[in-house]
Amino acid sequence: MSHQRLLGRSALVSGGAGGCGAEAVRLFAQEGARVTIVDIQEQAGENLAKAIRAEGSEAIFVRTDVSKRADVDVAVRQATETFGAPTVLFNHAGSIVVKPFLETTDEEYDWLMDVNVRSMFLMTRAVLPGMLAAGGGAIVNTSSISAVAATPMEVLYGLTKGAVHMFSRAIAVEYRDRGIRCNAVCPGFIRTAHGLREVELLARYGVDASEDVLAAQQGRMCEPAEVARAALFLVSDEASFVNGTHLFVDNCFTAV
Ligand SMILES: NC(=O)c1ccc[n+]([C@@H]2O[C@H](COP(=O)([O-])OP(=O)(O)OC[C@H]3O[C@@H](n4cnc5c(N)ncnc54)[C@H](O)[C@@H]3O)[C@@H](O)[C@H]2O)c1
Repeated sequence: MSHQRLLGRSALVSGGAGGCGAEAVRLFAQEGARVTIVDIQEQAGENLAKAIRAEGSEAIFVRTDVSKRADVDVAVRQATETFGAPTVLFNHAGSIVVKPFLETTDEEYDWLMDVNVRSMFLMTRAVLPGMLAAGGGAIVNTSSISAVAATPMEVLYGLTKGAVHMFSRAIAVEYRDRGIRCNAVCPGFIRTAHGLREVELLARYGVDASEDVLAAQQGRMCEPAEVARAALFLVSDEASFVNGTHLFVDNCFTAV
């Protein structure tokens, strides 16, 4: 049952066309938010926006590569013109490179840093002025267990998530006294396209991320909705005194 915790708020979700992002879009809309979905997956994003509108909620899709400044600026402008300045921002879009460190190329470094880190910088910088003018808001960035727990073949990925971890804290500290909360959600392995591809690539390089190993580390695969619900908590007023923190959604992966 909906509690309308985000009633009337303009919310922007990056990576909103699939996986946890799409779950968050559905959940935020059920809670009364007017949602701007940004993603590179055009058809899935349009379909999701349409499905949400058919259920009586408000959503638009803006095809956006979050690593590109021009795209991000257009998305934020369209969100603002349609629903008002976003006061809820879920920076979720991201990707991964899985391969031995010594085989990692300059191009892969630039690409992953752009998609996972530059994206947060660009999007947050574009959204913050409107959020401040609106009197405040809440930002959630998707970090990972990989910000604090290393997996072989994922040096580059862990590097980007370490940056996201600190970015979340730094924004929170700088803007706390102007009504902004900024937190990170840090999932374990999730049953999404990203998570399943990661497990498959790790196996290809001889890193055992089988069901048995995952069961020992985190009980089972995390479901996308479990991450979306954590993000909803963090952007809602229920988390009014939660700021600059890292919420691990990993069923003890990092607690052991
Ligand atoms: N799946 C996992 O096991 C896991 C664990 C921890 C953290 N994460 C983080 O979650 C996010 C991945 O999301 P997911 O697991 O829901 O997977 P997913 O692959 O289903 O979703 C990622 C979404 O981001 C979009 N995207 C990718 N690059 C983009 C770009 N340049 N511009 C705009 N959109 C882009 C994709 O199209 C997709 O819709 C990443 O930030 C990842 O680091 C995933």
